Amino acid sequence: MKSAELIAIGPAEKTVRCIEVPDPGAPAAGEVLVDIVACSINPADILTIEGNYATQPAPPCALGIEGAGTVAAVGSGVTRLKVGDKVISLGRNNWVQRIRDKAESFARLPNEVDLAQAAMLKVNVATAHLMLSNYVDLKRGDWVIQNVANSGVGINLISLAHADGIRTVNVVRRAELAAPLKKRGADVVIVDGPDLAERVAEETGNAAIGLGIDAVAGTAVGRLAQCVAEGGTVVNYGLMSGEPCQVDAFQFVFRDIHLVGFWLAKLMRSMKFEEIQAMYEKLGARLLDGTIHVAVEASYPLEEIAEAMAHAKRESRGGKVQLRPNG
Ligand SMILES: NC(=O)c1ccc[n+]([C@@H]2O[C@H](COP(=O)([O-])OP(=O)(O)OC[C@H]3O[C@@H](n4cnc5c(N)ncnc54)[C@H](OP(=O)(O)O)[C@@H]3O)[C@@H](O)[C@H]2O)c1
Repeated sequence: MKSAELIAIGPAEKTVRCIEVPDPGAPAAGEVLVDIVACSINPADILTIEGNYATQPAPPCALGIEGAGTVAAVGSGVTRLKVGDKVISLGRNNWVQRIRDKAESFARLPNEVDLAQAAMLKVNVATAHLMLSNYVDLKRGDWVIQNVANSGVGINLISLAHADGIRTVNVVRRAELAAPLKKRGADVVIVDGPDLAERVAEETGNAAIGLGIDAVAGTAVGRLAQCVAEGGTVVNYGLMSGEPCQVDAFQFVFRDIHLVGFWLAKLMRSMKFEEIQAMYEKLGARLLDGTIHVAVEASYPLEEIAEAMAHAKRESRGGKVQLRPNG
């Protein structure tokens, strides 16, 4: 069967290839075999491949944080999954045609879900959901501000917040994103800039914004901190600028702003399997009722993984880039 392989740390379009590996074979007791249908390529995959992530891979090695597929076979003693069930993989190394692993390495989804959408659930939807739930007790009508609002996480956050009556200020880099994001439920869409706080105050009627969500770091997180009300929390979960977080000490000392970090992988390690399964079941239902939907800009077979990597690294994309290991 085909699998992606990282041959060296370096530019993703040059260091990942498609290879033949042995088929995993029939599942043993407690295991299942899953055919992987769709895999999203996330910024964290690119950061990992290029040596800029929290964990360093040791090439040659398999890859891929996200993968969704169908159960092809179940081993003895497995009762919670059956052949044909749709699942997302909770493990890593998902850019491959088939995975054999213990049943608890997969979360079951409703069988009506679209697997291309399911392939974005594990990382970005859960991240948006947990950041909205875990830091500030948000009630209907409350405001949240985020940057990178047109990203996968950003669009999910808009959708989930809107469904719960929470209002969002969405900071982007391109003015043309206002209309599509408002269509998804964004209340305010604003282009980043030095006077961000003044413009946000104007657009929201001086609303007290309790939660800021940042994936850029650098000076952008400092501008977001200025928009958050005294005593509020800014959650940093990404480093798209590649720069350290820069927040004026004024924000901490005189305005009591709290800056915290979010990392899904670490948080999930602290969750029991039953909690994880329940979370994805709930988020899977949000896929089915149409609350959550993120565009896929392109899908590639594993044989074209170099092109897929180059595409995933492009800025100003109109959606996710995915792999389709089984065509
Ligand atoms: N901490 C965690 O557990 C966790 C979990 C999930 C995701 N993340 C992080 O969340 C972020 C978004 O991930 P995603 O999969 O949702 O992204 P995505 O859909 O691939 O979109 C990438 C986004 O980043 C923006 N961008 C790229 N370079 C930028 C820069 N230098 N300054 C500002 N914006 C920039 C793009 O804007 P344009 O469209 O204008 O190019 C686009 O909005 C990433 O940093 C990712 O690592 C973290």
